[in-house]
Amino acid sequence: MDLDFKNSHTTYSTHGFHTYPAKMIPQIAKALLDEFGKNATNLFDPYCGTGTSLVEANLHGLNGIGTDLNPLARLIAKTKTTPIEIQTLDLHLRDFYNYLFNYRFGFTTNQDSIVVPSFKNIDFWFSRTVKKDISVISNYVDTIENHDIKEFFQVALSQTIRLCSWTRKNEFKLYRMSPERIRIFKPDSFSVFEKTLGKNRDGLLDFMNKSKEKVSSRIYDFDTSERIPKRVIPDESMDMVLTSPPYGDSTTTVAYGQFSALANQWLGFMDRGRALDEQLMGGKKASRIPKFKSRVLNDQVREVENIDRNRALDVASFYRGYHSSIRNVSNKVKKGGYACYVVSNRTVKGIQLETGQITKDFFELNGFDHVDTFSRTITNKRMPKKNSSSGKKGKKTPLMNKELVVVMKKRGAQ
Ligand SMILES: C[S@@+](CC[C@H](N)C(=O)[O-])C[C@H]1O[C@@H](n2cnc3c(N)ncnc32)[C@H](O)[C@@H]1O
Repeated sequence: MDLDFKNSHTTYSTHGFHTYPAKMIPQIAKALLDEFGKNATNLFDPYCGTGTSLVEANLHGLNGIGTDLNPLARLIAKTKTTPIEIQTLDLHLRDFYNYLFNYRFGFTTNQDSIVVPSFKNIDFWFSRTVKKDISVISNYVDTIENHDIKEFFQVALSQTIRLCSWTRKNEFKLYRMSPERIRIFKPDSFSVFEKTLGKNRDGLLDFMNKSKEKVSSRIYDFDTSERIPKRVIPDESMDMVLTSPPYGDSTTTVAYGQFSALANQWLGFMDRGRALDEQLMGGKKASRIPKFKSRVLNDQVREVENIDRNRALDVASFYRGYHSSIRNVSNKVKKGGYACYVVSNRTVKGIQLETGQITKDFFELNGFDHVDTFSRTITNKRMPKKNSSSGKKGKKTPLMNKELVVVMKKRGAQ
């Protein structure tokens, strides 16, 4: 199976709604659904992020269930998979354009009534103009009564917040632009928002035209390393799991919380946006290194420990959560069902952590057989390719240039 998909168009349908770190590319989800989802009626993504696999599941005629701890990711996943009657959406778009026209040309009588939010460091991340203009937009969005349409607008607002802030756009963490860049950076928040709304409207129309009737996706706020209640997903009910789990703890790999912090705060999803990274997998630091039921993992954690015990604890904390989430996910899969995990072998302190092999070991412990592991070169995904695995500033080592797609099948089918 060739999963490289060089130069593919990855933002078709609703896939282009919003940027997000380490997004799965839709072509992978599509190829895996074609190969392993032929008889499936439903799909579960335990780390659904912005919902790439759920969108593809719906386009393939499967119902989707996703879980994620990041409220912004859940919002994006939900809007990408929620049909809206296009005439109703267009009415709201027109109403918003009128509101903006009246505001811009001074026809709004109560210009001073715009509520500007205040959260920690807001002035560090936004110019006065951008802060005011985004407030003009968000004040309108707050008045939308139709829930789905409000969320549709919120996604475009979140993207506008990111694009017009002083964050460096090529980083996952919150880094401020240089003073030189800030001096010349003069975004027009209104046109960024309008453009995003228009693009997303067309993407949604495409999704609705192509997705099969009567399928839908449900998205939940769950920590998948905790037990998932049966009322949310009954045991042995899912035909297929398709996911890209986090690569390591958020603080030292991909900081989803930092990436989403400004939008999460502005949209009122959480008052401490950065704290999310501590809740994600591996964020709660283990006080000792447990013995894992994977020889490869035990050996590799020990190698890291010989160099740096503290980093070994980070690694152990992540895989402890990873194993319990695989146990929980395994319970939800039907006998004969598939689990497809898109993972990467990352390097810590110069030691390569074989997440592909570890994923296989964990699933085998939980009643699955290994079907295959496919390797792909990352060419078109937002990923950190290098990090300072030694912990020393400036010393960069390759982080993830290859991805592995581990396919497992649950034992016991007739
Ligand atoms: C690689 S991203 C998934 C990206 C997704 N495939 C997409 O296309 O947007 C991993 C996701 O795992 C979520 N996550 C991390 N730890 C989690 C946990 N313990 N429970 C649920 N979600 C978690 C993060 O918030 C992040 O959105």
